[in-house]
Amino acid sequence: MVRLLTRTLPPLTLIFACASAAAAAQAATKPAATKNPVASTPESITAGKALFQKYCRFCHGDDAKGNGPQAPEGTHPPDLTDAVWDHGSADFQIFANIRDGIGPKFDMKPYGMKLMPQDIWNLVNYLRSIGPQGKQK
Ligand code: HEC
Repeated sequence: MVRLLTRTLPPLTLIFACASAAAAAQAATKPAATKNPVASTPESITAGKALFQKYCRFCHGDDAKGNGPQAPEGTHPPDLTDAVWDHGSADFQIFANIRDGIGPKFDMKPYGMKLMPQDIWNLVNYLRSIGPQGKQK
């Protein structure tokens, strides 16, 4: 049995498979990606909305209009549907703000440990879809 396995799956193939998977994972989390790699499909927007309801609405409000009822005192989570982006308006900047949080106070915490890059792009697509320009980038 063991011999059969090693014959059908030579160890070297395994090593190569792991190395390329690691490289792909690294590329996906590379900072300052300039282009949103996730198309703004209805599926992406729906997934982003579900994530928003789970992780973000406490602070940013049900409809992302800011100042959610459970926001910690003294923090003022902004409206994410208006045209104003205090920390960068490009998709990759919004992505970075969600992944890395916003210093120096980090009232906006980093979500990079909880969410996969794909999740964060889905969130960006959702926020775009409810923003002033609809689905436009
Ligand atoms: C604990 C409260 C809290 C939670 C939860 C939270 N945020 Fe924030 N968020 C803030 C605050 C406060 C700011 C403003 C930070 C600043 O300007 O220093 C902010 C800022 C932002 C910004 C930048 C807005 C701009 O004008 O540039 C984005 C984007 C954002 N949040 C998205 C999210 C998303 C997406 C989630 C869920 C994954 C989330 N936030 C969860 C409190 C929160």
